[in-house]
Amino acid sequence: MPIYTNIEDLRRHYARRTPKMFYDYAESGSWTEQTFRENTSDFQHIHLKQRVAVDMAGRTTRSQMIGEDVAMPVALAPVGLTGMQSADGEIKAARAAEAFGVPYTLSTMSICSIEDVAEHTTKPFWFQVYTLKDDDFMRRLFERAKAANCSAIVVTVDLQVLGQRHKDIKNGLSAPPKLTARSIADMATKIPWGLEMLRTKRRSFGNIVGHAKGVSDPSSLSTWTAEAFDVSLDWKRIAQFKEWWGGKLIVKGIMAPEDARRAAEIGADAIIVSNHGGRQLDGAVSSIRMLPAIMDAVGDDVEVHLDSGIRSGQDVLKALALGAKGTYIGRAYTYGLGAAGEAGVTRALEIIHKELDVTMALCGETDVKNLGEHNLYVPRGFDDPTVKL
Ligand SMILES: Cc1cc2nc3c(=O)[nH]c(=O)nc-3n(C[C@H](O)[C@H](O)[C@H](O)COP(=O)(O)O)c2cc1C
Repeated sequence: MPIYTNIEDLRRHYARRTPKMFYDYAESGSWTEQTFRENTSDFQHIHLKQRVAVDMAGRTTRSQMIGEDVAMPVALAPVGLTGMQSADGEIKAARAAEAFGVPYTLSTMSICSIEDVAEHTTKPFWFQVYTLKDDDFMRRLFERAKAANCSAIVVTVDLQVLGQRHKDIKNGLSAPPKLTARSIADMATKIPWGLEMLRTKRRSFGNIVGHAKGVSDPSSLSTWTAEAFDVSLDWKRIAQFKEWWGGKLIVKGIMAPEDARRAAEIGADAIIVSNHGGRQLDGAVSSIRMLPAIMDAVGDDVEVHLDSGIRSGQDVLKALALGAKGTYIGRAYTYGLGAAGEAGVTRALEIIHKELDVTMALCGETDVKNLGEHNLYVPRGFDDPTVKL
């Protein structure tokens, strides 16, 4: 394996190995991509407080997310079409997460099915559901997740309609990829990717094809979204999912203090402050900037997690120091997967872990659970999105 010292190294290698259609799918935001960009750049506005002459021996990044022990509070976020970034990608990512000791979240829009991932792992993983109109299909998804021993459901609430991603439309994104002169010409330059794909039977939406009724074109994400997703979603419906599922439930996609309160009121076990990695409402504030107001709104009433924009262990540290109990990475591990399969996901986790550990040490902290605002210099007005940074 090449020497990857940071997540950007993995991204560069991933870009070379993967067909443009799938690289663009991951490496993009909606419309102007402002939120996609600010998710990462806003982390840079926060500085770290260096401490010296502190005993740094015996450091630990061990913590808990929704009561589960984690080697570090960094879960793998649900990422659709992971199995198109690398053959059997969901299985590879889940195995890497399991070996590392962090939670893996399987997307509804995965290529490998829930059953497939369960068969190839030994510990419970988390399952992400989109909020679909079809009650039968939703109930069956919960039953399948239960049968697969999933320990939590992540309900994504920020995608009743799909944010327009220009590149996906131009590339004709689908799984399996449609064979056009352009896609064939591109794939011809991605031989190792293609050979791996030829060897697997998993090339379309494993949780949907053969399970959902009335889906005219399951290969197309946008068609399926428009047909099946519940535009009339409300909090009553989310509470109903909690009842149907009967286990731990995480609400993903919270960006307003009022919504955070509603999630706490319906008894969510955790919320994820997330703007879907800048893929939904372009122009939304970065999630790291929304975190302080959401922490103020919910206090200890619900566990708060964060994703969107994390590309390093330092970003993780900043989110934890601002109050998040856990974080997720989406693209950071997808780059690793596309660059080097399961070993690449492991490498992404190792990179983030090492950055978190060394940064903790240089900030004079030995326990990830003790991080707080005392470790940071947060610019005045950071928590007020009307203030230009
Ligand atoms: C390629 C890609 C596919 C995604 N698919 C899903 C999905 O199926 N379900 C979901 O809830 N979120 C999905 N997300 C959003 C992620 O779960 C997560 O919120 C986001 O990636 C975090 O931002 P980051 O990529 O900057 O870490 C996806 C993100 C990416 C990049």
